[in-house]
Amino acid sequence: MGRLVICDHPLIQHKLTFIRNKQTNTKDFRELVDEVSTLMAYELTREVPLDTIEVETPVATTNSKIVSGRMLGLVPILRAGLGMVDGMLKLIPSAKVGHIGLVRDPKTLLPTEYYINLPTDAPNRMLIVIDPMLATGGSAIAAITSLKNRGCDHIKLMCLIAAPEGVAAIQEAHPDVDIYIAALDERLDDNGYIIPGLGDAGDRMYGTN
Ligand code: PRP
Ligand code: URA
Repeated sequence: MGRLVICDHPLIQHKLTFIRNKQTNTKDFRELVDEVSTLMAYELTREVPLDTIEVETPVATTNSKIVSGRMLGLVPILRAGLGMVDGMLKLIPSAKVGHIGLVRDPKTLLPTEYYINLPTDAPNRMLIVIDPMLATGGSAIAAITSLKNRGCDHIKLMCLIAAPEGVAAIQEAHPDVDIYIAALDERLDDNGYIIPGLGDAGDRMYGTN
């Protein structure tokens, strides 16, 4: 089964409190999501493999480390996942970015894919699917399935807030995928919203409702 990693760095937890707060306005919400995404990218890349290379400093030659292994790709789930891309690219600027458009039907809670565009070398990359909310897990499962159908087998999932139901659903549908979150909340309500959560992530990020 994939690992569930809760990124409990104090700065992530502090900023998440303001992201949750309904008084936080759209501009601040976007900035905070951006900042938390940078911090979570740091946590997620903690275990990337390293190679040793020789480097000449102005005074000597030495062995030093560089990142090796698979190149990274980010795959935000539209819309809300878009708000996490720039924060992550600050730390991993060479990552390529694919996009998957999914929308959840408010009644059935089932996702429909309306758009997908991936880098041509996506199957060779470690792909990080990003979305602030993991509620029923339907959207993330559909996104990961879509990537696997296109030959992508090295996938991680990064979300800000998850419901236990969503985590369990991913672990059952895609047991090879590690999940990185900032908080594991209590449950889903009858409308499929995460309690306590932060409300509708896309609406709060883009000022719609
Ligand atoms: C939200 C959220 C996730 C999804 C999570 O998107 O950003 O993608 O719901 O719910 P799930 O785990 O039950 O699938 P939404 O469908 O509202 O689209 P939006 O980002 O365009 O607002
Ligand atoms: N999507 C959201 O944006 N928020 C939730 O709480 C659940 C799904």
